[in-house]
Order: sequence, then structure tokens, then C-alpha cells
Amino acid sequence: MSDNKQTLLEQQLKSYIKAKGPVSVRAFMEACLYDPQHGYYRQGNPLGAEGDFITAPEISQMFGEMLGIWCVTTWQAMANPVPLQIIELGPGRGTLMADILRSLQRLHPNFEMLSVHLVERSATLKETQKKTLEGSLCPVYWYNSLSEVPEGPSIIIANEFLDCFPIRQFIKTDRAWHERVVGLDDQENFAFLVGSEVPRGAIIPSRLFNAAPGSVFEFCPDFEVVMKDVCRMAKRHPMAALFVDYGFEGPQTGETLQALKGHKSVTPFLMPGDVDLTAHVDFTALAALAVANGLKCYGPRDQGAFLSQLGIGARAEILVKNASEEQIEKLASDVVRLVAPEHMGALFKALCVTSPSLDIPAPFDQKVAS
Ligand SMILES: C[S@@+](CC[C@H](N)C(=O)[O-])C[C@H]1O[C@@H](n2cnc3c(N)ncnc32)[C@H](O)[C@@H]1O
Repeated sequence: MSDNKQTLLEQQLKSYIKAKGPVSVRAFMEACLYDPQHGYYRQGNPLGAEGDFITAPEISQMFGEMLGIWCVTTWQAMANPVPLQIIELGPGRGTLMADILRSLQRLHPNFEMLSVHLVERSATLKETQKKTLEGSLCPVYWYNSLSEVPEGPSIIIANEFLDCFPIRQFIKTDRAWHERVVGLDDQENFAFLVGSEVPRGAIIPSRLFNAAPGSVFEFCPDFEVVMKDVCRMAKRHPMAALFVDYGFEGPQTGETLQALKGHKSVTPFLMPGDVDLTAHVDFTALAALAVANGLKCYGPRDQGAFLSQLGIGARAEILVKNASEEQIEKLASDVVRLVAPEHMGALFKALCVTSPSLDIPAPFDQKVAS
């Protein structure tokens, strides 16, 4: 995106705030990410070494291969219904789906009965996905939202999808919880301000009522929409969904809204529309929504344990056999990056949601209490 366009979104937001007053953190994020002309996901390719951030499938093919193994065992646990839809929410460059399909082709005899359904909002990334999946042996379809995908037996995959959704933030003052809003300071720079008071019993979990002044609580309203759409897929057909993301088991206070530009952390107010804004996923809130919608829910499990149990170590040993010295070093460091708790292994978690009739999908062993 050019500086000129960038200036435009910043100007638009500032003019709006001057005329109408501060906006919620959610509205600010929504504009920065999805503004039809200048939003972050309207621009080029945000992923990879050249972009702003790197995701697990872009680090190593082993991540997608492990998720492919998860799809195979889950398909079997569903009693191998055919045809089966593999749905991916937020497929990025299409790398994860390409790796999943390669595993499925090797490991499942009914591979040809698959269709692939990609839910993507960015027109640019849709084009990239088309190139990556060109020549795929399964038919591939694109949608703007999960609500558009036809019903049928389905496995849904979402890696680093939920962290994109705009959040509301609330801040505790001496007296009460308030919506946190984005306004302007004396120099007309964006600034966080304290908005209207939130009535007791609405949104803020009761155990946080007496949190220390200055505490921040985050809430993502769009998770409910996502979970309703997931539930629709499970109404008449077997369905299993896997959400992998960075997040925590809530409720907790703390600010996780973050901004990334060129792999560096920056202020969320820098260059609106040109910077990736995300927030950590509250897996407890997500699981509660799944259960409230009549689905079964397992996890979350740390990504490290999840990938290790699916066999990432054994897969690396196989790949090492035909690898150069340099490739062997990269394979070892990739496994560490994906699995070690001090890297992605503990912060990233996997949550599984299934239709009520399904058995526990490996490698999950504990159902979230309903
Ligand atoms: C952080 S990237 C993750 C990409 C990929 N899953 C990966 O692991 O490499 C987020 C993806 O979700 C897409 N996305 C963001 N918000 C979306 C929305 N509301 N609906 C559909 N796709 C969305 C982005 O365009 C992008 O493809």
C-alpha cells in the first residue's frame, strides 16, 4: 500500500473521530483490517519473509502434514463419510491446504471423494491460493464467509484465523469497568480513552468485577458468529473443526492487542491499514460458545504436545534421510520453533469442536465440561 493511501485511512479515521467522537477499539480494528479501500487485508501479501508475519505452515511443511494426519484420523473417526468437504478458514497463501492434501492423498484411500472449500476475505490472497493449489486433484471452491459453504460432512481447519477478528477492550477504573475507545490527544494523535461504563453483569465475567484499576479485559464478539456457522455445518452431518491459534485459557485481564509491521512489534496506531493488528484468542470463551451451541469441544492442547503426538518427530526423522546438511539443520530448528514451549509450542494451542455424535478425535483426550 502506498504512503498516500495510508495517509488517507488515517485522515478518514481522524476526521470521523473529530466529527463524531471516539470509536471503540473494535471499530478501529475493523477499519484498519477490513476497510474496503485501505484495510490491511485489501492489500498485497502480508505473510512470509517479505511480509509482516510468518505462520506455522510457512515455517515448515511438517505443520500441514501433521494437520493432514489429523484430518485422516478424524475422517476415520467419522466412519469415513463420502463425499467429504475439507473447509479452511483464512487459508493465507494456500500452503497449509497444499500440505494437508498431500498427506491425505498418501494416507486415505478415499482422497478422490474430497472437495476443498476456502473461506477468504482478501481478493489478493484468493489469487495467491489459486496459484498454490493449481493442479489440485480435488475441486476447490472459494467463499467470503463460512455461512456460504454448502452443508455436508465436513472437516474445518482454521490456523491463525481467529486472532484476526476485531476485539472490544474494557478498562477498569477506580469504580467500574468501561469500554476502551480510540480518540485523539491534544496533538491530534490517536490515543486510548475511557468510554462509557459497562453495566454490571454484561460482558465482564463476575470474577473480574474487582480487578485492579487499570486492568484491561478483551472480548471478541465475532466468535459467536463463527461458532454459529460451525454449528450449522454440524446440524445434519458429521463435522469436526480444528482451531489453532495463539491464545490463553480465560477469563484473564491483560492487553493482547498487537501490531506487526515487517516482523517487528509496533504501536497499534502506526500507519492504520498498513500494519497487521491481532489479539490473542480466549479459548475458554470459544469453547463455552461451542458447548452453548450444542457441540462437543476438546482441548485446548498446547501446539507442541499436539504436533508431537501426531508424530512430527518421526516425520522429521524421515525427511532428514534425504536431506543436505543445511536442510537437516533447518528441519531441526523448525521442529524446535513449532514445538518448544519457549517458541510456538505453548503459546499456540489447538481446540477441537465436533458434532455431538462423534467420538473423541485423537490426539485430544479431554472433553470441555458442558
Ligand atoms: C494470519 S493469516 C493465516 C493464514 C494461514 N491460515 C496460515 O496459517 O498461513 C489470516 C488469514 O485469514 C484471512 N482472513 C482474515 N480475516 C478474515 C475474515 N473475516 N474472513 C475470512 N478470512 C479472513 C486472511 O486474509 C488470511 O488469509
